[in-house]
Amino acid sequence: MNYEEYYKKYIKIFEEYVSKYDRNDALIELKRTHSYRVAIHAAKIAESLKLEQKQIDIAYICGLFHDIGRFEQAKQSHTYDDRYFQDHGDYGAKVLEEKVSKEISEDERIQNIVILATKYHNKYEIGDTTEEESLYCKIVRDADKIDIMEYQVNEIDGKYPLDKDVVENILNHKLCRNGVVNNKLDHLLRMLCFIYDMHYIYSFKYILDSKILDKKFELMAKHSQEDVSDIINCINEYLKDKINKK
Ligand SMILES: [Fe+2]
Repeated sequence: MNYEEYYKKYIKIFEEYVSKYDRNDALIELKRTHSYRVAIHAAKIAESLKLEQKQIDIAYICGLFHDIGRFEQAKQSHTYDDRYFQDHGDYGAKVLEEKVSKEISEDERIQNIVILATKYHNKYEIGDTTEEESLYCKIVRDADKIDIMEYQVNEIDGKYPLDKDVVENILNHKLCRNGVVNNKLDHLLRMLCFIYDMHYIYSFKYILDSKILDKKFELMAKHSQEDVSDIINCINEYLKDKINKK
């Protein structure tokens, strides 16, 4: 499918919004390209669930706009650390509420879905939503996590101790709450917990088939001061279980 051609109406709205920001700023470009990849993952997840074309389209739109709050954040605080701005999911939802969601669709139902998928894409858990809204929130959360795992923390300098709390979360199959990240190894460990908040077989298969996890494991083993075999075994078992069950 030629996504660019098929979704050109929404891409135009997205690009018009982004054009207010400096494309030469690496932070802006990073989120722009991330948005397109997340949109495609979201559409592919919807396809894998055998949803109708209209629903696949909503998934793509939610993916494309989920990080709309990041552009103002980059302009104002020159970092993607929410502590120096505000929660970028909440801010993105506000941007959509005020104007952009009305450009996307006249249908209030679709407007709400896009706003809520944006608001909840980065939260520890999905807040108050209908079953339909929750479906798109989950699709975007999976799509976002896949792309973050693929593109972030692919290099680490030096060796670090393992953060005991994060390791405990991994061994207990729990997502980490947002917190202070001490170093890149810490960041990588927190990212591994993403698999515990993935909902769809497409996501598990993608991170396995594209060797994303193998690369992360290799990096973790190389840059950890301690043995990481328990972590690797635990995650591999979890994934095997998920893929076999579905
Ligand atoms: Fe985000």
